[in-house]
Amino acid sequence: MTDIALREKAKAYLQLCYRELNKEDLFEERWLKVQSSIDEKGTYELLDFELDYGTKVAWRNSNKCIGRLFWRSMEVFDKRALDSIDDIFDVLFEHIDFATNGGNIRSTITVFNAHKGIRIWNPQLLGFAGYRQEDGSIVGDPKHVEFTEECVKLGWEPKMGPFDILPLLVQIEGRKVQWREIPKEIIKLVPIEHPSIKAINDLKLKWYSTPIISNMTLEVGGIKFMAAPFNGWYMGTEIGARNLADEDRYNLLPLVAEKMGLNLHDKNSLWKDRALIELNQAVLYSFRKAGVKIIDHNSASKQFMQFMRQEEKEGRNVTANWSWIVPPVSGSTMEVFHTEMHDIIKSPNYFYQEDAWV
Ligand code: ARG
Repeated sequence: MTDIALREKAKAYLQLCYRELNKEDLFEERWLKVQSSIDEKGTYELLDFELDYGTKVAWRNSNKCIGRLFWRSMEVFDKRALDSIDDIFDVLFEHIDFATNGGNIRSTITVFNAHKGIRIWNPQLLGFAGYRQEDGSIVGDPKHVEFTEECVKLGWEPKMGPFDILPLLVQIEGRKVQWREIPKEIIKLVPIEHPSIKAINDLKLKWYSTPIISNMTLEVGGIKFMAAPFNGWYMGTEIGARNLADEDRYNLLPLVAEKMGLNLHDKNSLWKDRALIELNQAVLYSFRKAGVKIIDHNSASKQFMQFMRQEEKEGRNVTANWSWIVPPVSGSTMEVFHTEMHDIIKSPNYFYQEDAWV
């Protein structure tokens, strides 16, 4: 980023931050300091409260996220001071454990130093391996085939199961990527069962409790934190209508429909739709039974509408990406479906990054 772009982003964010936190009287002095730091070093450090608030505004600005009503409540772990690889792994384990909280999931972000080239190679801290077989078929999560290959290249032993938790891969600039297995005790897996269609339980499906995205860049005031893993709790459809159902993921709808005794050859039987609903019910039921916090899509949509109204009341324009906000099942039954949205990208935000191994 050029100094000019950094300066502009820094100023815009600090103005917003100091205005929203009622610290306007402190702004001018702070802005002078930030400018001289950019003059001297080409960058600046965010103060603790500036970083803390920035992680939250970045969430508020995440156009694809339906869960933004809770943007103010995120635990922020500021780990900018760390630089040893062992400390980084320990802190990542702590994140998993703290965020999972025995099932009572807490929205959490851990922010690592922006200037040391720290990269987490995993797309999420928790994820299942995907193995390509000799006949071309895949065991496990097809989304992670490439990442799994990277793990194996580094010496991680493939286990060839459908739900093997992957190791963590972390790199510090200029050094070789390192891997560690995640301690079993801090991983919570939920067995998926259906409340009444017992045949679905034969499929022995599972999912993990906590979705912790670790391959996005947190940008606050023009500073880019490439290692800043964050999590919320799951909305059921992410698992039941996408991860387990998409044809290029676990592709389970034909198997579920078979277990339900549906006719897969009759298009008018709506077998896919019916299997989809039952699989989603199984996910919600199983997470509740396991004591793991999860939200159904109807409630999430209501909460998002509440977020939109609350933001408008506070004088802010809500930006959102309709195609991501509307849940992947029963769209038109929810108010979000009938709501116009504007997908304008603001900063602070969380941005995609390229796969670290490319
Ligand atoms: N859709 C992703 C997954 O299924 C997780 C994205 C973040 N989700 C969340 N509820 N915070 O793993």
